[in-house]
Amino acid sequence: MCGIVGYIGKRKAYPILIKGLHRLEYRGYDSAGVALINPAGQLNIYKAKGKVSELETYAADKDTDGCIGIAHTRWATHGEPNTVNAHPHYSESERLAIIHNGIIENYAVLKAVLQKEGYTFKSDTDTEVLVQLIEYTQLNRHVNLKTAVQLALQQVIGAYAIAVLDKDNPDTLIAARKGSPLVVGIGDEEYFLASDATPIVEYTDKVIYIEDEEVVVIRISGLADEGISETADEGISETPNPLNANPLTITTINNVQKTPEIKRLELSLSQLEKGGYPHFMLKEIFEQPRTLTDSMRGRVNVRQDNIALSGFIDNKERFLNAKRIIITACGTSWHAGLIAMYAIEEFAQIPVEVEYSSEFRYRKPVINKDDVVIAISQSGETADTLAAIQLAKEKGAFIFSICNVVGASIPRVSDSGCYTHVGPEIGVASTKAFTAQVVALTMLALCIGKEKGTMSKEQYLCIVRELGQIPDKIERVLGQNKRIADFAKTFTYAQNFIYLGRGYNFPVAMEGALKLKEISYIHAEGYPAAEMKHGPIALISQEMPVVVVAPHCGTYEKVVSNIQEIKARKGRVIAVVTEGDQLVSRIADYTIEIPATEECLTPLLTVIPLQLLAYHIAVVKGCDVDQPRNLAKSVTVE
Ligand code: F6R
Repeated sequence: MCGIVGYIGKRKAYPILIKGLHRLEYRGYDSAGVALINPAGQLNIYKAKGKVSELETYAADKDTDGCIGIAHTRWATHGEPNTVNAHPHYSESERLAIIHNGIIENYAVLKAVLQKEGYTFKSDTDTEVLVQLIEYTQLNRHVNLKTAVQLALQQVIGAYAIAVLDKDNPDTLIAARKGSPLVVGIGDEEYFLASDATPIVEYTDKVIYIEDEEVVVIRISGLADEGISETADEGISETPNPLNANPLTITTINNVQKTPEIKRLELSLSQLEKGGYPHFMLKEIFEQPRTLTDSMRGRVNVRQDNIALSGFIDNKERFLNAKRIIITACGTSWHAGLIAMYAIEEFAQIPVEVEYSSEFRYRKPVINKDDVVIAISQSGETADTLAAIQLAKEKGAFIFSICNVVGASIPRVSDSGCYTHVGPEIGVASTKAFTAQVVALTMLALCIGKEKGTMSKEQYLCIVRELGQIPDKIERVLGQNKRIADFAKTFTYAQNFIYLGRGYNFPVAMEGALKLKEISYIHAEGYPAAEMKHGPIALISQEMPVVVVAPHCGTYEKVVSNIQEIKARKGRVIAVVTEGDQLVSRIADYTIEIPATEECLTPLLTVIPLQLLAYHIAVVKGCDVDQPRNLAKSVTVE
């Protein structure tokens, strides 16, 4: 949800900011904008509706000079996606410029107060209210900019990651966060600011993750060459540092001094590139054999027939004594949670509830001290999931999170957890993160089951050994990519799809449907196969493709009957079956085979053809696969 970038240093800011926006475009792409203070001390703002490339075209003949700047790529919350609502926003006097990721919930009240004071507003955004509030506070309270930012943020209810420029302080960049991520990169006499580390990684591996309610001030003197004098209040720093030895300071919004903790980034530039694939999504689908190997490395030891998950080992008692496990997540991560419900109940025999984070947190849930709450989030920043675990934590539950982005807010709030280690997922539709979440949750279910003695040793050993085979088996499924691409073409006419599955593969059906919806804009629904006759069967006709996930396990025979019912009504069936299947292959229109595996691991294989099917249908339809309309990768607003 919106990406923010900032730069202050000796280089030209504009190219760095634009490159950074491209890296963050997955967070939102309704509009983009940039603010720069040029060497003459002018604060220039350029904005354009649409993607970052539109901004580049617009700014091509403009003055983009300056060594300090901020930039934004937007996913609209308040106000339609147009140029006026695009960030950055000026303050009333056009002295300040701000970019913002998050939502100011009490913006209407603050706006009314400012309007009474004579402030006027050009946009419909909550962000413009904040920059006006900062300017108003500074003028009214006669304080420096840092203090004005602190005082303004004390009045704000909501979430924010902001960066502010002040043309009267052309050597200073101020930023702050609460609830939305913010990282500062430390270069050689230069600093970078971004919503995540991807715009920073090619310049430095030294970063500081800004904490909630912290305000960072970065001041590098001598950036403006001509005619800029500091304001009467002696600039930003409360204790001016003539040697400029400490250009970066962090305080809380209540002005408590903080000691910045510098961390080393573990991210490589090649992970942020397409590596010869036409889309990030396809690259990420094909990465899955490797990413799952990475997720299991050091955890699944096939030679010793063992799984060691440090987040479990260190907190064994909490899991063994849990009366209930609540899993909370959104979207694709919620589907991974549903699969985990089957595995944890089967192997560990602990009741599991799987909750949409957005519903869970608002329905006054009963949470007990001996509950374990598992949050699943690729980004680690999803606002609803974060709020759900904060609530559960307040009520004394133990919080375990499964996240991909190291150092994100959700793992930081959690008591313990497990990183999936799949590297950056850039395609907006989640693929490799999903399979890694399923692997992490399966490992956890097996650890609990083994320790509790609720599963047989033989079953444990079979699954551990089979886990080790999964990357190779995925490779075999990926070998059918060309065939899937070929028959995908025949389905681009469809307006609706149904996806059916049972047991472990019912959540896979929902995940397949979600993939199709989000990237091809075809309506699709995932249903438990047996539920079809309770309603959705009315939809079946020649025009309605039905994808059936039917591996040879569990309720296979029943699913075969469901396929017969669809065929009897002239539905067109694409079936995912186990290699060597004779029955379904004879009745389905198209079949895709997966190698045989343990039932609990089938989702790791059955989901791959569904990812590919959605991908190829979207490509043939000419959709923007990596950046589907209206979506954003990291949903940091509620
Ligand atoms: C779908 C998708 C979303 C995310 C959801 C949660 O392809 O990517 O449904 O799964 O927004 O995001 P995280 O996992 O980052 O919490």
